[in-house]
Parts: sequence; structure tokens; C-alpha cells
Amino acid sequence: MAELMLLGLFDNVETTADVLDEVRELGVRDEQITVMSHVPYAARIFGRKPARLWFLPFTLGGAAVGALLAFFITFLTPQIYRLHVGFQELTPVPPTAIVFFELISLCTMLGAFIGFLLQNRFPILTRRMYDERITDGYIGVEVRAPLDVAERVVGVFEKHHARVIQREDAANFKPQGIRHLLFWGAVATGGAVVLAIPLLFSYDIVEVPWINTMADTVSVGAQEGPRLAAPAESVPIQGPVLIAGEPATRPLPATATSLERGKALFGINCAMCHGLAGDRQGAEVGKYFPEIPASLAERAASLSDQELFLVITKGKNRMPSLAENLSPGETWDVVNYVRSLSQ
Ligand code: HEC
Repeated sequence: MAELMLLGLFDNVETTADVLDEVRELGVRDEQITVMSHVPYAARIFGRKPARLWFLPFTLGGAAVGALLAFFITFLTPQIYRLHVGFQELTPVPPTAIVFFELISLCTMLGAFIGFLLQNRFPILTRRMYDERITDGYIGVEVRAPLDVAERVVGVFEKHHARVIQREDAANFKPQGIRHLLFWGAVATGGAVVLAIPLLFSYDIVEVPWINTMADTVSVGAQEGPRLAAPAESVPIQGPVLIAGEPATRPLPATATSLERGKALFGINCAMCHGLAGDRQGAEVGKYFPEIPASLAERAASLSDQELFLVITKGKNRMPSLAENLSPGETWDVVNYVRSLSQ
């Protein structure tokens, strides 16, 4: 029995402060002394060093981590996975603000929670001496000291009329929860790994040929009737797509304005499959469609204007119908743009 644990109870703050001073004079270090009370007292009342402040740094750190995560999701992800969005912002403000707000709030709360646990000295691995009377208002002073010093500490306790003096062999107070700590640490690490697995898929680190409904579905909807071939020599202009008897020419001349509109519309509706220049370059969706022509300009050259128009409005095999995205006028703008690709 080389060291002893002592617990004395005192009924007021002044006595406790005196006891602590005298115990420290006996050469007991501050870390070997624990003061327990049913209400919180500032550490300096007892002449002790204030406890380390974990709460604030963890809360602020949480906020910073949240902001970093939000930055990654809103600014870096669209850079890594570029999509043609026409003239739209790649990182639009309103949804970005929401993502920042949510992630910063979430991580701040998490940081505050962890900081709070650490502030309360979690995890406590050693058994503590305790007496229920501390809950009733007494102040407990727990001291760990070598045998000879311990005897003198008991003397100090008795001099100040300690209510109870518990003494125990310090060997009974070895840290014991380490296995629990390792276990819960492993559980937390396992949880983090499980959470990270879906990220491997969403960031294409692990690529799985998921069922891609757009690629695997023929573009004919169940509600659509059998398709009518365009009557010979017909050209749709406005309103109903097929108008018989019109001359086979483009109704919209390829003016600079029409080409500019066509390019923007092509960027929004076609580039993800065909690439902005029709050469499949940067076509994020197109890479799932090996049958997409390598040169749209060349392929289009073999099609008449109205055939081109019909491919866009009706789709072809796995190319979807874009009639809902483009009005007939806009479709002609796109036709003009596709024609201009060959030059
Ligand atoms: C979802 C992907 C996708 C989108 C979006 C898409 N296409 Fe296609 N496109 C295809 C595929 C797949 C083919 C090959 C069809 C086939 O020949 O089986 C194709 C073929 C074509 C052809 C050649 C047709 C033929 O008869 O050989 C043209 C022209 C064309 N697309 C133009 C467009 C234009 C213009 C747009 C935008 C308004 C567009 N595509 C949007 C997937 C797409």
C-alpha cells in the first residue's frame, strides 16, 4: 500500500479553501486533488487552476469543418463533375446558402456536443470516491497521496472537522475503462467507414454499372401511339409538329441570333450526351451511350432538315424525345446550330 485515497466532507466553502491550501503545503500536487460539490464553484475560489476550456474551440472547430464541407459540396463537386448548364451559374446562390447554413449548423452542434463531453472530463476511466452527502450540500475533497503524506492530510481534515473521512488503497483506483474506450472507439470508426462507403460510389471512386433508366429505356412512352413517319416534303414550323405539304426548308434563317440561341439550347439539352461541339467531348451522360455518333456534324450532314427536326422532337432509339424541352422555334434554332458545327 504505497498510496492512499482520502475523502473528506466539509460543510462550507471557506473551510474547504483553507483545507486545500494546507493540503497543497504538504506537497500534494493540484492534479492529485479533486473537489466535488453539488453546485458548480469557480476553480479560483479554491485557489485551483481553471479547468481546460474545450467547449469553445470544439464549437468553433465544428463550424469551420461544416463550412469546409459545404464548400466542398457546393464549389468543388460541380468542378469535379462538370455538367453543361447553359448560361446558368455552376454554383447558384440560394441553394448554396442553404447547404452552407445546414452544414455549419449541424457541425457546430456536433462540435458543441463533443466539447461539452470533454469539458465534463468524459470519459472518466477511474472509479471515484463518493459520498451521497455531497449531493445534499457537502463539499467533498478527494486526495491521492503517499502513505506518510496521507497521514498528515488526515490530520488537516480532522483539524477542520471533516464530517467523514474515507480512506482506501490507491491501488483500487487504476484506470479500468480502457477496453470500453477501445470498443466504442472501434464502433465509432466502423460507423464512419460505413458512412463513407456510399461516398466511394457517389464520387465514382468505385464504379458500379447501376441501372441507368435513361440509358436502358427506349424513349417511346407507353402512352404514345405508333409513330407516324413525317409525310414526304413536310416541315413542322409551329403548333402541331407535323404539317403536311410545306416546302422542305428551314423556316428560321441561320442568323447570328438564331445560332447564339441554338448554341445555348444545345448546351442545356444536348451537350451532356453529344458534347458542346457534337464530338462527345466532356459528355458526362453520353459516355453511357456508345452508339452516339462521334461526329454529330458528319451524321447530321446525311439527314435532311426535317429529319433532323424529327430526331430532336421524337427521339431515336435510345435518344429521348426533346419535344417537351424545346418549342418548335427553339428546335429550329438547334437545327441551325447543328448545321453550323460542320463549318
Ligand atoms: C440522353 C442522351 C441524348 C440527348 C440528351 C440527345 N441525344 Fe442525340 N442521340 C443520342 C443517341 C443515343 C443517339 C444515337 C441514336 C441511334 O442511332 O440509335 C443520338 C443520335 C442523334 C442524332 C443522329 C440521328 C440519326 O438519325 O442518326 C442527332 C442528329 C442527334 N442525336 C441530335 C441531338 C440533338 C440536337 C440533341 C439536343 C436537342 C440531342 N441529340 C440530345 C442521345 C442523346
